[in-house]
Amino acid sequence: ENIETILAIETSCDETAAAVVRGGNTIISNVVASQIESHRRFGGVVPEVASRQHTENITIVVDEALEKGEVTLGQMDAVAVTKGPGLVGALLVGVNAAKAIAFSHDLPLIGVHHIAGHIEAARFQQEWKYPALALVVSGGHTELVLLREEGVYEVIGETRDDAAGEAYDKVARALGLPYPGGPQIDRLAQKGQTNIDFPIAWLEEGSYDFSFSGLKSAVMNTLHNANQRGENLLPEDVAASFQRSVVQVLVEKTKRAAVEYNVQQVVVVGGVAANQGLRKAMEDQFKNENMDLVIPPLSLCTDNAAMIGAAAHILWKKKEFATMALNAYADLDL
Ligand code: KG4
Ligand code: ZN
Repeated sequence: ENIETILAIETSCDETAAAVVRGGNTIISNVVASQIESHRRFGGVVPEVASRQHTENITIVVDEALEKGEVTLGQMDAVAVTKGPGLVGALLVGVNAAKAIAFSHDLPLIGVHHIAGHIEAARFQQEWKYPALALVVSGGHTELVLLREEGVYEVIGETRDDAAGEAYDKVARALGLPYPGGPQIDRLAQKGQTNIDFPIAWLEEGSYDFSFSGLKSAVMNTLHNANQRGENLLPEDVAASFQRSVVQVLVEKTKRAAVEYNVQQVVVVGGVAANQGLRKAMEDQFKNENMDLVIPPLSLCTDNAAMIGAAAHILWKKKEFATMALNAYADLDL
């Protein structure tokens, strides 16, 4: 049988992650060591702290992934690693670890784009049906990506300023909620009323781009003005109203693009795809459409290495291997 087993590593931001994935769609093990506690007191990810923690944890996390999967490096067919985009110091820890393993065990090395990883997390749910559309919503990215065929990603829309997750985190911070703010706002929003009118940036007719900085500013101004007037806004109402604006534009543009490109499958991935409000709105919007909606479980939406193993599967089939000169890239086109 020709089904490969790949050890995958992901260290682009604040999770040190390793996984063993077979054939691009079967998770043998998936280990994520979160650094959230270390960054929380700074209110966000501190690059220097991230790099140091990755260095401390990477060997432990890789060993744990192998142990949990009851496999050895000798049984691996390749080592895959996120090469970008992300924090360059953080990425380098993963890239160097992957190179060391590849070199010492004579394994092919595969460099994976972080966003391709998020998108290919859909493989664990079901096989792709092309053409497909992926909405990638994370702390660093908000993109609509068209897939006409396997492994070819066309960005048809993206944020012009803040990423959706970034807006969540900033609004949460303004509400005095701890980092990361997305899950906090999500939880609050479920208890609140959508009684505050926040703007939605639809942009030019036909554009699939997004913009969240105006919405973020509107929330800040509303909080500031209420504070000045001594009014008491309920944080859950602010959260619910903010979330409505975000979800509405994400769902609407995804729907429009899905129809325009006549896709067979719509995929929602990235950290913000963990959002309950967004998941529900997407399900409502697509339930009567003649296309599959795929939203991976929460643990495969936020950063993890299993998704890197899934994306690496495509490169493995094409024998697109990296050399020992593989570098890490803060910015990298999909
Ligand atoms: O994909 P991810 O883990 O890391 C990046 O590649 O950015 O995404 C992290 C982002 C953070 O901004 C976090 O606040 C957001 O995803 N997030 C959420 C939820 N869970 C995580 N945003 C809204 N609702 C959630 N439940
Ligand atoms: Zn991510």
